[in-house]
Amino acid sequence: MTKLPDRLLVAQITDIHLFADPEQSLLGIKTEESYRAILAAIEHLDPQPDVLLLTGDLTQDADRKAYLRLKDSLAHLQLPTYWLPGNHDEVELMQDLQGNLSDGAVFMDKRVEMNGWQLLLLNSAMPQQVHGCLTAECLAWLDRQLANYPEMPTLIALHHPALPLGSAWIDRISLHNQAEFWQVCDRHANLKVVVSGHAHQEFDTIRSRVDRQVRFLVTPSTCIQFQPNNDEFQLDTQAPGYRLLRLDRDGTVETTVHRLAHAKFQPNLAAVGY
Ligand SMILES: [Fe+2]
Repeated sequence: MTKLPDRLLVAQITDIHLFADPEQSLLGIKTEESYRAILAAIEHLDPQPDVLLLTGDLTQDADRKAYLRLKDSLAHLQLPTYWLPGNHDEVELMQDLQGNLSDGAVFMDKRVEMNGWQLLLLNSAMPQQVHGCLTAECLAWLDRQLANYPEMPTLIALHHPALPLGSAWIDRISLHNQAEFWQVCDRHANLKVVVSGHAHQEFDTIRSRVDRQVRFLVTPSTCIQFQPNNDEFQLDTQAPGYRLLRLDRDGTVETTVHRLAHAKFQPNLAAVGY
């Protein structure tokens, strides 16, 4: 019998906001260029991640050409890659374009089992809405997956943050039914970590309940950044980034955010709205 590796390495990239036209900028940053720089950084990681998660807002205008370019860019990494939608995405198009076994590119599975962990990918996007919500059907499904594998440490990924970040304008457009989400989560001791995007900033906290703790993480965008702890929209000058997670078989989570080192990707700070 082959022994399972004792840990799972996950790379998370989020809020890529690719346009149909690769030359187009979002508030001063060419999103294609900053995304390619992040991808190059991931490509040079040693060891390579076991899996890559793309947690929504993959395109800015939900254009087929942008998704196809994204998919092509990922193909040569040869990493198992899973994507889930954000508020800017078109779910049907993503389903249509996901890989099949012959091209080995991107998948849209909702449940992935790897190296002793289960990864649950939720769709929190609602048609024509910026904020997020999980349907009753999705929450019931989540409850079943957590219950079916009680011994398996679990990561949940979804686009919209499921806790307040302390920034009023972002908290208004985060996950709206957070209480229902945590009501399900609190029934299961195997949930270890929740990762999100949407807020274009780093956030890292531990949600503690009597007998357990869940790590709650938000990851910087691969393009523009929003200033943390600001109740109004304000761009931040921090560089684009991504997150690495080391998930041990015993349920331990270690994580770091990595940002591009150079100052090439500066936003237009005079922009007043997103
Ligand atoms: Fe978003």
